[in-house]
Amino acid sequence: MSDRRGPIVTLDGPAGSGKSTTAKAVAERLGFRHLDSGGLYRALTLALLEAGTPVEEWNALTEEDMRALDVRVSSSGTSFDILVGGRRVSEELRGPEVTEYVPFLASLAPSRASLLHLQRMAGEDGRLVADGRDMGTVVYPSAEVKVYLVADLQQRARRRLKEVGHEDPTDEEIEAAAAALAARDRQDSEREHSPLRKPEDAHLIDTTRLGFEEQVAAIEALARAVERD
Ligand code: DC
Repeated sequence: MSDRRGPIVTLDGPAGSGKSTTAKAVAERLGFRHLDSGGLYRALTLALLEAGTPVEEWNALTEEDMRALDVRVSSSGTSFDILVGGRRVSEELRGPEVTEYVPFLASLAPSRASLLHLQRMAGEDGRLVADGRDMGTVVYPSAEVKVYLVADLQQRARRRLKEVGHEDPTDEEIEAAAAALAARDRQDSEREHSPLRKPEDAHLIDTTRLGFEEQVAAIEALARAVERD
């Protein structure tokens, strides 16, 4: 296992496939740290919105400009806090404006380059569970355990609605949420830089009919198996 002190586990997959909650639970069970890489792209987006930089100008920004936004991570128990200019950010990363603009920001090569080193540093010692879109393909290509999570679109839409407190949505609400997720999947999969795709050496786990406990246990078992090697 390279010269790390433990394995890196990557979880990639489309929006609403349950990556972040699963990754967090797997990390807690293993005593590893969890990195939510989507949070980093959200933090860059938040920083640009707060700075008042017009969205039409984002594609002229350089890697240096992105770095100057000062997005960092700071290790905190089994996770990482995300900091913007030294301020810890969390709930504000989930706001509607950030959610609207983050796919565009994440499609820009300088944003990806500016976050690469930071993500690699977070995984330097291993013992990390990282979730996102390009964890197994670009950021940690030598990760010991790679997982690609999928779930059918309707199911992902229901989960997304439940996350925002919508326990009993109508068919129309599910259709609208599914259409939004499908649009996001297209943006993430069709972009030029680090598109969402299954790493060739990833385990494919379809969570449509799996309970949360089962999917966490399956990934935990994969990680424990490589730890024993
Ligand atoms: O997983 P999420 O919804 O927090 O991700 C937010 C956006 O960031 C989404 O458009 C996909 C993008 N993203 C990415 O391009 N690469 C990653 N490793 C993680 C997220």
